[in-house]
Amino acid sequence: MYTLTDVTKTYTQGKRTVVALDKVSLEIPDGQMVAIQGPTGGGKSTLLQMLGALDRPSTGTITFRSNDLSAAGESTLTGVRATDIGIVFQSFNLIPTLTAQENVEMALVPLGVGTAERATRARDALASVGLDERGGHLPSELSGGQQQRVAIARALVKRPAVLLADEPTGALDESTRDEIMDLLEKMWTELGLTLIVVTHDSAVARRAQRRLHIKNGHVKDVA
Ligand SMILES: Nc1ncnc2c1ncn2[C@@H]1O[C@H](COP(=O)(O)OP(=O)(O)O)[C@@H](O)[C@H]1O
Ligand SMILES: [Mg+2]
Repeated sequence: MYTLTDVTKTYTQGKRTVVALDKVSLEIPDGQMVAIQGPTGGGKSTLLQMLGALDRPSTGTITFRSNDLSAAGESTLTGVRATDIGIVFQSFNLIPTLTAQENVEMALVPLGVGTAERATRARDALASVGLDERGGHLPSELSGGQQQRVAIARALVKRPAVLLADEPTGALDESTRDEIMDLLEKMWTELGLTLIVVTHDSAVARRAQRRLHIKNGHVKDVA
């Protein structure tokens, strides 16, 4: 699914240069479930941004399904994100003025899906995360766990090849955390996704097929 070769990402803040990823080389096969762990500031979110085609490396190459993301133009990256990559964040990132149903439908607009099909697919996606009854609710009328379910439905409604999750349970209480991780794992199994999840929860990480540890921009496999 992904091949990273010597991927380096640096950020410049005033006179200071931060190396967020340092010559990362990595192969992620189709369908793998990968857990990413490591200290704050280690480079986890930066790696996810690269995998999510949200940003390009400073040097090195990332190929995703034969697309070279490091060399691709903005419109190619936008297209890849719209079609192939679903992303879930710690803070849900729902649009507060739209209902759950509308938030999920939004993901299908860039794909040119017509109004009626958007509505049906969004309803199905909400049902698949257990929210059949909540389509008409605004995010503020939903619990944190329910909002994250909406975000997961929004990420999956496009039928992506990859689901990326950056600390998806970081803002949730313990019991809700388990529910969300169970849901992500269920989706991974049922949909044959590649699932890449940043998590501080070691129990979750142990359930993944593969664990990566990132510190100071260096990535290594954990045995
Ligand atoms: N947009 C940015 N501008 C400047 N520095 C950044 C930016 N994003 C991340 N960094 C820096 O890059 C390093 C890695 O950050 P990040 O990938 O967010 O780590 P993690 O997700 O593991 O906490 C940190 O030192 C962080 O301060
Ligand atoms: Mg982070």
